[in-house]
Amino acid sequence: MYASPDDHLTIGEVIRRTGMPASALHFYERKGLIFSERTSGNQRIFSRHMLRRISLIIVAKRLHIPLSDVAEVFAGLPTDRAPTHKDWQRVSRRWKKQLEERRRVIESLERELTGCIGCGCLSMKACLLLNPDDTLRGHGPGPVRIQQPSATP
Ligand code: FES
Repeated sequence: MYASPDDHLTIGEVIRRTGMPASALHFYERKGLIFSERTSGNQRIFSRHMLRRISLIIVAKRLHIPLSDVAEVFAGLPTDRAPTHKDWQRVSRRWKKQLEERRRVIESLERELTGCIGCGCLSMKACLLLNPDDTLRGHGPGPVRIQQPSATP
């Protein structure tokens, strides 16, 4: 049973407030990322603080943060009340770190690509784009991608 109608929103209100379609809300609920309750009339209602979780899912999607990571982060957040400012800071620090790491990888790939533009050799031995850190060496001699397709990293 829910506390007060003011603390809860119908699915229509949640859709209107977040812009998220009902199918997505059902999907995130099945994934355990958001929760709803049922009224005595079997109407689905959401605690108002679920809007924060949904907003965070939207932000994560925009940042290309995988849903598995969102689930990990949400596992550490309360489900019965709105997360505190400190909770959100913890989440944003974690995602900032991931974005910085992603930026480092992209910058490194950009540098390698700059070297490859105009080269075009796509050498399995020398090209850092095709074979970063010569990782294919560990799969044996020769053209391993052709000889052992299952060994392709
Ligand atoms: S294309 Fe020649 S080194 Fe990458």
